[in-house]
Amino acid sequence: MNTSASASASPAPSPVYDRIGVGYRRVRQADPRLAALIREGLGGARTVVNVGAGTGSYEPVDAEVVAVDPSQVMLDQHPGERKVRAGAEELPFGDGEFDAAMAVMTVHHWSGLRQGLAELRRVARRQVVFTWDPVHEPELWVVGEYFPEIRAMERERFTPVSDVAEAMGAHTVVPFPIPHDFTDGLQTAYWRRPEMFLDPVVRAASSTFAQLPDSVVEPAVARLRADLESGEWHRRHAELLTRESVDYGYRLLIAGE
Ligand SMILES: C[S@@+](CC[C@H](N)C(=O)[O-])C[C@H]1O[C@@H](n2cnc3c(N)ncnc32)[C@H](O)[C@@H]1O
Repeated sequence: MNTSASASASPAPSPVYDRIGVGYRRVRQADPRLAALIREGLGGARTVVNVGAGTGSYEPVDAEVVAVDPSQVMLDQHPGERKVRAGAEELPFGDGEFDAAMAVMTVHHWSGLRQGLAELRRVARRQVVFTWDPVHEPELWVVGEYFPEIRAMERERFTPVSDVAEAMGAHTVVPFPIPHDFTDGLQTAYWRRPEMFLDPVVRAASSTFAQLPDSVVEPAVARLRADLESGEWHRRHAELLTRESVDYGYRLLIAGE
């Protein structure tokens, strides 16, 4: 199909990212260490479909990539030339059209996880998914200590990694501990940089924070600010401050050839 412009094939609504996606690219900068892991996972694919592509993070530069996303706000920030507005659940491509399909931090947004994974398998010989395990321990301190509301939200949105692996028939599951200076501002990125959570622009680039009402966010942020100013946060997390990376449950799953 012709994907030379921002084609719109079987568009699916993405109300969350059409609302919160503005400014995403500035905070969610692809991290080179995760990019290397994903590139390796793609196994030298020459043609790749990036499903839930957002602004194009982690797309291999040495492959032909088609970016797919239901949010026009996200596609507008994607620098690529081949963009298709569609949801994972109904991909407008032929069987086996790509060497590999990639889906990074997106499967938790799909309305039909199994349907979307089946679509990845139909259009590509290899499938690479990067996601987070909601039942993994330890939990990020920001959830336990300041935003316990997030726990239930995340458990509702994210499917346990073991279930995703089973649904996609993954043969490889690789843990990705989050480095202390991770550049991609997802919720866990700032585990050793607590002051970043005070920044509303940073919070807005994480769909969880972005969906919490101000009545929850403002008092929790005020409490964190006070704990940082008093040194209480640093006292409580002295051990964490000595760590270079922490396994918070992010996993790369690989299926297919
Ligand atoms: C957290 S962003 C990740 C974007 C990009 N993969 C990255 O790593 O930066 C999640 C993306 O999933 C997209 N999305 C939401 N529902 C989707 C669906 N049903 N199918 C495919 N993508 C979807 C959103 O529009 C958003 O761009």
